[in-house]
Amino acid sequence: MSDDIDRAVERLRRTKSLLVITGAGISAESGIPTFRGNDGLWQNYRAEELATPWAFERDPVTVWKWYDWRRGIIGKAEPNAGHLAIKRFEETFPDFFLITQNVDGLHGRTGIRKIVEIHGNLWRVRCTRDNRTSMLTDVPLKTIPPRCECGEILRPDVVWFGESIPTEALQASYNVMSLCDTLMVVGTSGVVYPVASFPETVKDKGGFVIEVNMEPTPITNVADVSLFGKSGDILPAIAERLPH
Ligand code: OAD
Repeated sequence: MSDDIDRAVERLRRTKSLLVITGAGISAESGIPTFRGNDGLWQNYRAEELATPWAFERDPVTVWKWYDWRRGIIGKAEPNAGHLAIKRFEETFPDFFLITQNVDGLHGRTGIRKIVEIHGNLWRVRCTRDNRTSMLTDVPLKTIPPRCECGEILRPDVVWFGESIPTEALQASYNVMSLCDTLMVVGTSGVVYPVASFPETVKDKGGFVIEVNMEPTPITNVADVSLFGKSGDILPAIAERLPH
């Protein structure tokens, strides 16, 4: 492990353009459940009943109750040492970008600026009539389902299974992938597309891939270095050894 950290640090010291990708694992140490694994949300809840446009159309109350429950957990959570280390990377690397799959908004709360939330943000809502977005931060929600001023139902402004990533977010992601020389992938199981394909895309154009996860994933086969452990321990240990 310490050899692997040395290799990662050595590479990062030579990196001009760093891209970081995060998944639910980065927020686990803030007390937010991940999706897969033994304690994952998808062990107890069915994604197709809660995280698809069809589920919402059929039963918006059930979907919103689930989001209200998650917003309750996330509303009490704070960014952890892993989120803060990534904010330090933004300050260290003049050319830096973060793509997160997380909708919890915790990266944003560190003050990070160069970020795309590729699956949206669960504090933002979207009118089902005209797609206008706004922030709705009440916890718990005053009414379920919440309604727009126009009277129509609001939905969480997140990407559900069966929906496309917004074009702008996807374009920004491909743009930063083409620019980066090192990709660090943190706390994702690497099974949800399109993000699951990003490490290979960076590898194919000659980039270096560093993985940080508790356990091996499909990304481990692609990564140049895999660091196994908690992101809240590993990322600050790396940040400490970079010039700042
Ligand atoms: P997952 O729940 O699939 O994976 C979380 C990963 O984090 C696993 O590989 C864990 O081993 C790892 N992990 C857990 N705790 C960690 C820690 N403290 N430090 C480092 N790693 C840790 O979450 P995602 O890969 O983000 O999509 O899931 C991708 C998408 O699937 C989500 O954005 C969501 C979900 O369904 C939608 O809702 C559209």
